[in-house]
Amino acid sequence: MSTSSPDLSSLRAAFAGRLLTDPADTAPFLTDWRKRWTGRARAVAQPDTTEDVASVVRWCAQHRVPVVPQGGNTGMVGGSVPDDSGRALVLSLARMKRIRAVDPINNTLTADAGCILTEVQQAAQQADRLFPLSLAAEGSCTIGGNLATNAGGVGVLRFGNARDLCLGVEVVTADGQVWNGLRGLRKDNTGYDLRDLFIGSEGTLGVITAATLKLYPQPAARMTALAAVASPHAALRLLELAQRRLAATLTGFEMMSRLCGELVARHVPSAAVPLAAANPYCVLLESSDPHSEANAAQTFERLLEEAFEAGIITDAAVAASIAQSRAFWALRENIPLAQATEGDNIKHDISVPISAIGDFVERTNAMLEQTFPGIRMVVFGHLGDGNLHYNVNAPEGAGGARFMADEPAINAIVYDAVAQAGGSISAEHGLGQLKVAENQHYKSAIELSLMARLKATFDPLGIMNPGKVMPVT
Ligand code: FAD
Ligand code: MLT
Ligand code: ZN
Repeated sequence: MSTSSPDLSSLRAAFAGRLLTDPADTAPFLTDWRKRWTGRARAVAQPDTTEDVASVVRWCAQHRVPVVPQGGNTGMVGGSVPDDSGRALVLSLARMKRIRAVDPINNTLTADAGCILTEVQQAAQQADRLFPLSLAAEGSCTIGGNLATNAGGVGVLRFGNARDLCLGVEVVTADGQVWNGLRGLRKDNTGYDLRDLFIGSEGTLGVITAATLKLYPQPAARMTALAAVASPHAALRLLELAQRRLAATLTGFEMMSRLCGELVARHVPSAAVPLAAANPYCVLLESSDPHSEANAAQTFERLLEEAFEAGIITDAAVAASIAQSRAFWALRENIPLAQATEGDNIKHDISVPISAIGDFVERTNAMLEQTFPGIRMVVFGHLGDGNLHYNVNAPEGAGGARFMADEPAINAIVYDAVAQAGGSISAEHGLGQLKVAENQHYKSAIELSLMARLKATFDPLGIMNPGKVMPVT
């Protein structure tokens, strides 16, 4: 790739006021949400339309300039920020915010990639429909970023991840052509699924500029409860019972360890819930009822009574109002912020078969606590999907730098245990730049070879988000 500095004047002319080069203007685009990676860039381009995106990518291809697509910059693995070479151009989709179409009969919505997730949810709601993708970053992340990372969140148990919610995409390819694949079809078996290749590719194969998304009916009522359990094993027994009793109306099942509740109480006191800091583990359950609030309340209360009687849960609180339900969710959603405020941390966004989670947590906790005395386990996440944020913080009062030096050894213990359980080292956050090397270690040679060939086919010049997902060759 060229190291000389191509002249930006043609881009500047085409992007009057939308090509940022002043360090004060570009700074917010160069550091990730976790403040773990800060890169440098030639410029930040802010297209308004798909054709704008195509012209930027064509310019980058012509001058061999790396392109780093960026949505809300809320990613957890450093995928949305450039390296520190200063050669890349950051392509921010944030100005592309049009809801292009809503079709309530087809139950689809087509949106520009830069629409914030809450804007998509609201547009669906205005049509009396539900767009069920939901995550704590929903006020800042974009639908393009959600698809590029194949985001999960708190509704996967019932509705699947971003891939399951997408019927079509519009993409600017690495040579600057536009592919309009915005088909609102539930069935389309016309060969290789290009849509599914771009979803989850983290900006390494092309730029997603718009998407056609699936909508669902709005539920008549939502119920939320917090239930205390002694262990992840007990949480799994509760999951099994809840799935039997609530069937498809069970829409959320999130677990958190005691330290999560304690950290929220310490750093985000407005979101604290005493039950969560007073028990080894807590589960947040949500049901979405198509009939009525009374029906939802009755089914939920019966479930919790049965769980008490079976000795599965030790305490519980059912939200008696929308405000209380929001408070329970605020507890859950503020865990990442509370953990970041507490100090240096290491995240493991892992999945294992749901049935293996209890043993995984017990054994891996024991190994880590024995090898790194005082290490603090911040374990939470989407238990109903077999996906835990099996995160760790430094021992109380210990220096962050010393702790971070142990990161490779800590990761090896966790990821070896994940591999042994038949799991994945990235359930929903992607690989970004954080897990490129580890992915090479844990994936089979044949998978890596197929991935490398795909990358070379879609991006022969290697300009699409280099160093993310795949190693630079
Ligand atoms: P960015 O961070 O800007 O980019 C992420 C990746 O996608 C980068 O590789 C980037 O190059 C690429 N990209 C972005 N837009 C495009 C595009 N239009 N075309 C091609 N490539 C593109 N994630 C979950 O899955 N589940 C959760 O529950 C969850 N909870 C979170 C909670 C908090 C508090 C925070 C801060 C983050 C959370 N995340 C979660 C991570 C993050 O929000 C998601 O990964 C989200 O999908 C990223 O969207 P974004 O628009 O911010 O993308
Ligand atoms: C969440 O589910 O809150 C995030 O994906 C987790 C994280 O911060 O690790
Ligand atoms: Zn998550």
